[in-house]
Amino acid sequence: MNLNISVRWIWLIAMAMLVTGMASMPTVMAANAANFADDYVPTVLITGSNRGIGLEFARQYAERGWSVIATARKPAQAEALHALASKYDNFIVEQLDVTDFIRVDALAAKYAQMPIDLLLHNAGISGGSEKQMFTRMEYDVFAKVLEVNTIAPLKISEAFYANVRASRDKKIVTVSSSEGSINGASQPRLYFYRSSKAALNMVMVNLALQLKRKGISVGMVNPGMTDTDFMVGLPKKMLRPTPEAVTDMMRNIDALTIETTGSFYQYDGTIIPW
Ligand SMILES: NC(=O)c1ccc[n+]([C@@H]2O[C@H](COP(=O)([O-])OP(=O)(O)OC[C@H]3O[C@@H](n4cnc5c(N)ncnc54)[C@H](OP(=O)(O)O)[C@@H]3O)[C@@H](O)[C@H]2O)c1
Repeated sequence: MNLNISVRWIWLIAMAMLVTGMASMPTVMAANAANFADDYVPTVLITGSNRGIGLEFARQYAERGWSVIATARKPAQAEALHALASKYDNFIVEQLDVTDFIRVDALAAKYAQMPIDLLLHNAGISGGSEKQMFTRMEYDVFAKVLEVNTIAPLKISEAFYANVRASRDKKIVTVSSSEGSINGASQPRLYFYRSSKAALNMVMVNLALQLKRKGISVGMVNPGMTDTDFMVGLPKKMLRPTPEAVTDMMRNIDALTIETTGSFYQYDGTIIPW
């Protein structure tokens, strides 16, 4: 074949795709709720689901009969997740370090045809209080906290946007923290963690504004002080049992609609001020 002619054809096809918008079309086609059958099984993808709040989300969504894609940094060590995978149908464990963007893209490519009703950003780190003390700040830790808590949820939202758009429920939710509320700050502490969650909230508000016309609802939920490794060292009586905290957040996720998109829910359903 004449090379000049085939190059011209490729160029013409590319221009036609650009003009018709095909090049930017998501791999999974958008759909609306009316297209879904009564026996539709919603899917949730959860980050950081090998322990703590993420593990309990995976358990409770599986118990509800949802299809669960439970991701973990080190699945080989995630015995509790594998136990859930053998107990429930439609429960898949996948490796994902949320800061590994190559892996994020690979996972999105693997699930390119799968609608995801709820993209649940749960993975988070505090950075350790001793590393964020004024006059002794460890800035490499600050960068890591931002990477995990703030930047990764945006990247993962971009990567799985088409999947959420193709689903019935169309929700992106992040486990944020009241520590990110500027209005609620009265004592200095946890500079890195608090800043990362305040910035995360702005990322999510932007996403809510961006995706509203696509029918995607974006929300933030706060579990309250919950009895996980995150709070190790604090007296148990100050902490909420993890199952209760997760049940509360799931109720607020259920309540999230396109009208309330961009909301930041306290565990009791009230709205946390920025
Ligand atoms: N517990 C609370 O009182 C409380 C209050 C407000 C908000 N939150 C938020 O709730 C979320 C869950 O916290 P938790 O209490 O369940 O904490 P946790 O018990 O310490 O669990 C944190 C989870 O995040 C995962 N993770 C950390 N870095 C990751 C990365 N780079 N990639 C993938 N996963 C990663 C951990 O995986 P590994 O096991 O591999 O480390 C673990 O599964 C966090 O976003 C936290 O900020 C918690």
